[in-house]
Amino acid sequence: MALLQTENLSYIYGEGTPFCVTALDKVNIEIEKGDIIAVIGQTGSGKSTLMQLLNGLLKPTSGRVLLDGEDIRSSKAKKLETRFRVGLCFQYPEYQLFENTVYEDIAFGPKNMELSDAEVDKRVRDAAKYVGIPESAFKTHPFDLSGGEKRRVAIAGVISMEPEILILDEPTSGLDPKGREQILSLIKNYRDRTGKTVIVVSHSMNDVAKIASRVIVMYQSKVLMTGTVDEVFEQSEKLTEIGLSVPQITEVFTKLHTLGYPVSEKVYTTKQAFLEIKRILNRGKDNA
Ligand SMILES: Nc1ncnc2c1ncn2[C@@H]1O[C@H](COP(=O)(O)OP(=O)(O)OP(=O)(O)O)[C@@H](O)[C@H]1O
Ligand SMILES: [Mg+2]
Repeated sequence: MALLQTENLSYIYGEGTPFCVTALDKVNIEIEKGDIIAVIGQTGSGKSTLMQLLNGLLKPTSGRVLLDGEDIRSSKAKKLETRFRVGLCFQYPEYQLFENTVYEDIAFGPKNMELSDAEVDKRVRDAAKYVGIPESAFKTHPFDLSGGEKRRVAIAGVISMEPEILILDEPTSGLDPKGREQILSLIKNYRDRTGKTVIVVSHSMNDVAKIASRVIVMYQSKVLMTGTVDEVFEQSEKLTEIGLSVPQITEVFTKLHTLGYPVSEKVYTTKQAFLEIKRILNRGKDNA
């Protein structure tokens, strides 16, 4: 049984009005414990809507979300349990930060879990340290922070609940390369350190290749493809058709392959590229 699963999940904004939009149409996905899932798709394909349904923030128009095989809306207790077990970090951190200080914002989730004050305090300090927010910033108003800091505080606010499934909606958008790297290694570290499950929405194929174990491709409110990073990026033509791409390094290696160089096309990260070039250079030595 999958940890988290959807069954014919559909969502319509403004149902019954002339402005209704089908944001999600009969989506079926399965997420296993310990996966790092990347969700990719063009703007408006339904990614954020799906994420908000997965933690029960939105109510499905039809279909179900199952956590441990049980509908997350089956009872009030299950709904609450889902909020804590499936932590969602919004696409725009401004939507998530509403307290007067950084400390209060990070503490909001754990406080709602009815933990002791000492435990809440520990969770806040640990989460802040984890995302690289110094304690000297605890009294700062979240809106006085930079974009990257806001995002890290928002992530800390979710991590402090220690969710079994951590959902991050576009966590690296708008960040400079250093900020991106920091967030990506933080995500990977969360999964490696805790064995918990992570779902990341991303527009960056380079980021996806770096961290994901599986990929879900959304297109026009539906799931177009799911598979491992290799399986999805092998379908470069299909991805291009729907306005997506493959990682830049993959484009380079595909081009080299087409030009007749003896390189693999299945190169998705710079690390793999390095190993592939090393392999070819070593082969050259053997032949000499
Ligand atoms: N609050 C809303 N009211 C009405 N329509 C909405 C609302 N939020 C999203 N939509 C519409 O639902 C569809 C799916 O939107 P969603 O935000 O889930 O897409 P997305 O894949 O996350 O896009 P992006 O990559 O831009 O974040 C789009 O057509 C969008 O315009
Ligand atoms: Mg979105």
